[in-house]
Amino acid sequence: MQKILVAHDGSKSSDKALKRAVELALKFNSTLTVLAVVPELYLTELSEGDKQKIFNSLSKETSDAMEKIRKSLSGKSIEVKTLVRQGDPAEKILETAQKMKADVIVTGSHGRHGTKKFLMGSVSSKVVDYSKCPVLVVK
Ligand SMILES: Nc1ncnc2c1ncn2[C@@H]1O[C@H](COP(=O)(O)OP(=O)(O)OP(=O)(O)O)[C@@H](O)[C@H]1O
Ligand SMILES: [Mg+2]
Repeated sequence: MQKILVAHDGSKSSDKALKRAVELALKFNSTLTVLAVVPELYLTELSEGDKQKIFNSLSKETSDAMEKIRKSLSGKSIEVKTLVRQGDPAEKILETAQKMKADVIVTGSHGRHGTKKFLMGSVSSKVVDYSKCPVLVVK
């Protein structure tokens, strides 16, 4: 298992996924890519200007979160790469996994939106459905 891709959306669940991925990376001496996708906004009632503002602040928040993760892992003997992409989260996760030839994708079972749902979130579920490589959904 050389390449691990972790999908991180800032949620507690994705923190758990990251923690598990770090354990795996240490064990298998894998490289770790942490990906956060800034979703496009479909709120049609907002003006383009407002959408842009929200998008910019989301992008900034996401980059800061990735920077924090990178720093927190800098003491560990793992090669870590962080990526921020824009678009549909599941599609970008799948696309990145294919491009980097990931051996496994690690996601949380829930994200920022899911409350106490029994079923897993729509992003992790789409990733499981369409991924060509194994997916570890951390509960
Ligand atoms: N924008 C994102 N960027 C990167 N990873 C994401 C993103 N959104 C979700 N994920 C990954 O998918 C996991 C499950 O989140 P998901 O979005 O499927 O659940 P949810 O937010 O609870 O429900 P939903 O979004 O369907 O309302 C997260 O823990 C994270 O690993
Ligand atoms: Mg979500």
